[in-house]
Amino acid sequence: MLAVFASALRSIAPPLAKCPAKSAMATLPNGLSKPDRSNLVPFSSRLKEGRALALDVWTIFSAANLPSDCINLGQGYMNFAPPRWVTDAAEEALNTVAPNHYSHPRGRIRLREAIKAFYGPQLNNDLDVESEILVTSGANEGQYSVFTAFLEHGDEVIMFEPFFDQYLPSVTFNGGKPVYVPLHPPKASIEKPTSDDWTIDFDELRRAVTPKTKMIIVNTPHNPVGKVFRRSELEAIAAIAEEFNLLVMSDEVYDCLVFDGKEHVRIATLPGMWDRTVTVGSAGKAFAATGWRIGWLIGPKSIIQPTLAASTRIVFCSNSPLQEAAASGLELAKEKKFFEKQLEEYAERRAILCEAFDKLGLKYTLPEGSYFILLDISEVEFPEDYPFPSSVLGRGRDFRACWFIATEVGVSSIPVSEFYCEDHATIGEAYGRFAFCKDVDTLCKAAEKLQGLKKYLK
Ligand SMILES: Cc1ncc(COP(=O)(O)O)c(C=O)c1O
Repeated sequence: MLAVFASALRSIAPPLAKCPAKSAMATLPNGLSKPDRSNLVPFSSRLKEGRALALDVWTIFSAANLPSDCINLGQGYMNFAPPRWVTDAAEEALNTVAPNHYSHPRGRIRLREAIKAFYGPQLNNDLDVESEILVTSGANEGQYSVFTAFLEHGDEVIMFEPFFDQYLPSVTFNGGKPVYVPLHPPKASIEKPTSDDWTIDFDELRRAVTPKTKMIIVNTPHNPVGKVFRRSELEAIAAIAEEFNLLVMSDEVYDCLVFDGKEHVRIATLPGMWDRTVTVGSAGKAFAATGWRIGWLIGPKSIIQPTLAASTRIVFCSNSPLQEAAASGLELAKEKKFFEKQLEEYAERRAILCEAFDKLGLKYTLPEGSYFILLDISEVEFPEDYPFPSSVLGRGRDFRACWFIATEVGVSSIPVSEFYCEDHATIGEAYGRFAFCKDVDTLCKAAEKLQGLKKYLK
């Protein structure tokens, strides 16, 4: 896998020196030499794993590297504010003494109570706020802490591809080994595919399990496919988890974005699964506040307690005032019908992009959940001698196609091969991921610009 990223890696990483370069000399303009002190202390070889040093896709496709008028549908953060009543609660917390200080490592009691009230009924569980809920610094840190708490060196973690890229270094930094099982893309014969047409080969999943397998990550609704796993799929995964005694990490950060009345099934509610499942949530996704870094884990004491021990030593506690704000968000969401209204808004945003792709006659995956659309970009033609930056050369075709679309058409997206291992990267090369967590005006402008793609289609 490192081969693919080697050139990008070289561009940012100093060599992993075995010993300080004390004897290396740099030549000064006056011809004299002085010791090279630029890389005295070698950094950890751990960073060689999990693509940690590779130039990541977010940096390559960041606004700074693209034309200034390019509309950013690449990275999945909103260009609108959190609801006013939630930011008011943040302000109130900032003006109160206690929430400006350390919180309990489990999280502030008000937020844990709000999580209990909101999620308890959905999980059919009268959650214990002392032992079954842990507030974390975003879903990311929560997931990292679970890996720290549960992985022994060499333990294998199964993840479905395409996968949220942060899983990879979080697993490898903790000594784990990622094992990849692809979601299979819709058959070519399907004219209007949906995320439900991305399927799991359960024999393949079963074959991926070894005596070293410790965990399986399920992400529903899924980033970047938008798949909302069916009950039958989750039952089959649950049966495998039960048979091989696996911990299930159920990443449900997009649980408030499930469209068209599709059922969002929480795997923790399936028979026997509560005891081996940790459910992951994010205030960032729920309240358009990705920079707040507030998330949560819900699960049995046997999973939450060791994870608390890890999290306490990683971050000690999470951002206190914004925990209060997230609590107020969950407390008032029902009364304000916030998630219902937000879902309608996202459905409208999804429709704008879909219509733009329909007009172009391009195939895409209609997402049943989350805020991403995978566009089939294999029909987009570009000159191979186009002045691509070195960061996209040597990567999949999708890197060049997405770069070309961003620079020529003015709408950025993310190449999907980034979310696959090297062996399966060609599956992802057919797609660009477009995020629709943007306001209607921006999406309408993007839709208009996207029509410029017409002249580049085969
Ligand atoms: C599937 C998935 N899980 C977890 C996260 C991280 O969430 P947070 O911002 O709360 O750390 C993201 C963010 O994009 C995501 O897409």
